[in-house]
Amino acid sequence: MKLSFAALLLLSVVLLSSFLRFTMAVPNHVASPPPPSPAIPSFCDPKCKARCAKAGYYQRCYDYCIICCKDCKCVPSGTYGNKSECPCYRDKLNSKGTSKCP
Ligand SMILES: *[C@@H]1O[C@H](CO)[C@@H](O)[C@H](O)[C@H]1NC(C)=O
Repeated sequence: MKLSFAALLLLSVVLLSSFLRFTMAVPNHVASPPPPSPAIPSFCDPKCKARCAKAGYYQRCYDYCIICCKDCKCVPSGTYGNKSECPCYRDKLNSKGTSKCP
């Protein structure tokens, strides 16, 4: 009697551990891969080069433009103004409350 109880206990421990291993292994299979970091659309580079062609601080202008283009998926045409073409770009503000995008 004592032996069969011990055997039953052992069996349940083995079953439980294999059950746990199974249930814990499942999420690894169904887990979706981490979302890829949003890629910069290929049109941003030429658009931002044109946008910043006359900028005093070209690199700064270009870097901000790329950030804005990535978020907004558009860049206004011309070297300044025309921001109504891209409201998202127009409405982005920096920490000082002024327009973030060139
Ligand atoms: C606004 O965009 C037009 C083309 O859509 C361009 O000809 C014009 O120069 C731009 N305005 C400025 C201020 O750059």
